[in-house]
Amino acid sequence: MTVKDDRQEFERHRASQSVELGKDKAAFDRALDTVLDLDRYDYAYLWTWMGVPIIQMPADVMATQEVIWTTKPDIIIETGVARGGSVLFMASLLEIIGKGHVIGVDIDIRAHNRDSIEKNPMSKRITLIEGSSISDEMLATVKSYIPNGASVMVVLDSDHSREHVLAELRAYGPLVTKGCYMIVADTVIGHVDEDRTPKKRSKIWFKGDEPLSATMDYLAETDRFEVDPVINGKLVLSSSPGGYLQCIKD
Ligand SMILES: C[S@@+](CC[C@H](N)C(=O)[O-])C[C@H]1O[C@@H](n2cnc3c(N)ncnc32)[C@H](O)[C@@H]1O
Repeated sequence: MTVKDDRQEFERHRASQSVELGKDKAAFDRALDTVLDLDRYDYAYLWTWMGVPIIQMPADVMATQEVIWTTKPDIIIETGVARGGSVLFMASLLEIIGKGHVIGVDIDIRAHNRDSIEKNPMSKRITLIEGSSISDEMLATVKSYIPNGASVMVVLDSDHSREHVLAELRAYGPLVTKGCYMIVADTVIGHVDEDRTPKKRSKIWFKGDEPLSATMDYLAETDRFEVDPVINGKLVLSSSPGGYLQCIKD
């Protein structure tokens, strides 16, 4: 008996359902209520990657996996390393792919966090750099680690103020290569009114002074990026809905 190869059909259905979900404001709002409810339990802080805390919602880890596997970047730059789970996660994927390097930037790389990262076998694919992500010196150092012709992805997950994220978008956006992604984390803050803003963060940000506002500002000044409707559509139980931007131009 021959079984029909339905992979393309499955893929089309998967993509179209995700896009449709992205248009369902009522479903998004119900999920947002859940996200805010779970935030009372520090939900994004409850997970680990290879034993190291990764401060993410599971859906964002899956979405990041999807874009890394699809695009297979040579270099992934992440601003905001914290305890190291996210740099280790991305380095693990690069290890499976068989190439690539993660550059992790943080203003405060604590000795115990550096220790967790450096004793993990994936650290061979990670370079940590301490300092503010938006200083000229940092940008020059990060650039010096990017080989000519490398494909580059960026994840922005550091200071979530509008001003800082916009400065990061302007500084790191030009490094992202066509086809690759720039992920802006914690855009969910821009979806909630001030009285419901998530409080379980190192700092509290309010609508208007957060990553989604910065992303909107940046998208108005560049035509190199677009909000991927398939990835973002399904990001309802997520910290970063609307934060997955694909670079569509050289
Ligand atoms: C939300 S945590 C990062 C979480 C991490 N990406 C993960 O998934 O586990 C934010 C981090 O940004 C760092 N940070 C804050 N301001 C920064 C700045 N100006 N430049 C670089 N890193 C900064 C903080 O020290 C903190 O470790």
